[in-house]
Amino acid sequence: MGESPRRMTEVEYDAAEVAYAESRALVAGEADADERAVEAALRPRTLAEVIGQERVREQLSLVLEAARRRQSPPDHVLLAGPPGLGKTTLAMIIAAEMSSPLRLTSGPAITHAGDLAAILSGMNENDVLFVDEIHRMSRPAEEMLYMAMEDFRVDVVIGKGPGATAIPLEIPPFTLVGATTRAGLLPSPLRDRFGFTAHLEFYEPAELDLIVRRSAGLLGVELTSEGAAEIASRSRGTPRIANRLLRRVRDFAQVRADGTVTEDVAHRALDLYEVDQSGLDRLDRAVLDALCRRFGGGPVGVSTLAVAVGEERETVEEVAEPFLVRMGMLARTPRGRVATPAAWTHLGLTAPAGAMFSAGDEGVRGDQPDLFADD
Ligand SMILES: Nc1ncnc2c1ncn2[C@@H]1O[C@H](COP(=O)(O)OP(=O)(O)O)[C@@H](O)[C@H]1O
Ligand SMILES: [Mg+2]
Repeated sequence: MGESPRRMTEVEYDAAEVAYAESRALVAGEADADERAVEAALRPRTLAEVIGQERVREQLSLVLEAARRRQSPPDHVLLAGPPGLGKTTLAMIIAAEMSSPLRLTSGPAITHAGDLAAILSGMNENDVLFVDEIHRMSRPAEEMLYMAMEDFRVDVVIGKGPGATAIPLEIPPFTLVGATTRAGLLPSPLRDRFGFTAHLEFYEPAELDLIVRRSAGLLGVELTSEGAAEIASRSRGTPRIANRLLRRVRDFAQVRADGTVTEDVAHRALDLYEVDQSGLDRLDRAVLDALCRRFGGGPVGVSTLAVAVGEERETVEEVAEPFLVRMGMLARTPRGRVATPAAWTHLGLTAPAGAMFSAGDEGVRGDQPDLFADD
């Protein structure tokens, strides 16, 4: 966002807060009061500052450059991917790179079409409207949004029943940036109206390493390269988690050591916070543990699994599973979730003879196509 002008009404600001609180709740239980401020301080502000996501960065920079040359607002952009990979950051960068005002809201905050009409009617030409968790918008609002995206016009319905009248409302050309953790949940008419969809990928350890060093620099934390690598390797491919672990490790370094984050300090701190060598946290391990010990390795439905670990289905599906699938520890099959040999090994267990995939079975990898296909 940088110097870019921002005009947020109080309602929109509240919506942004709600969206933020919800995204926080999704990623971890241990939310810090100061995390929001720290995240803001650590956010890259230009595309050039973004680490990793090469392909998305190049595609997006083309979209933006072309729009600048045409002197028209860029196509609507959909940002899809698990929490903490940089969706909000990219939305802010899009506005900043276009020198356009950014307006923020979120799907859950738009419960009525009227909420959206109020936002749209206040838009100016070239504004960027960021709708976080766009898959959670109400259906009537969604329908209003298609029309606004395509024709820059909406019909506002006044009154109810036979006396209701639709008042057409022109909206100046704007850019919608939607973010979602579940692109598959968006109805296709909405999905199709985005000119460009960016699928954010989990980050490689080398990229997380750069992110940790950059954040340490901004926060004034001293760390050795081994210390940075240790944090990066346990960050579940996720910048938000890398930044959070860095701050926890910094606390530990200040209280239990001389302030410098060395490999040993990082190691001890992360053990204390129950983040294991592979980056699995307590929820990830609980899911694997329930899957293996209680359900014999599966297959088991995700809702049942969620109940077993005492979490919302969404949390298991959007936070724990994408990472476990990526680690090759969990497979989504048409019949339910299944533990792979890597899961049994990780827990230090031996798969029972009846398990769907017993040790040594190379038939299933976490990176297989998602047969369960609900996203
Ligand atoms: N590519 C990146 N390079 C550096 N830092 C990043 C990157 N992506 C995300 N971050 C950091 O991770 C944090 C979370 O990113 P955010 O955009 O809020 O994720 P999302 O909206 O996808 O949940 C931000 O504070 C930002 O500092
Ligand atoms: Mg976000």
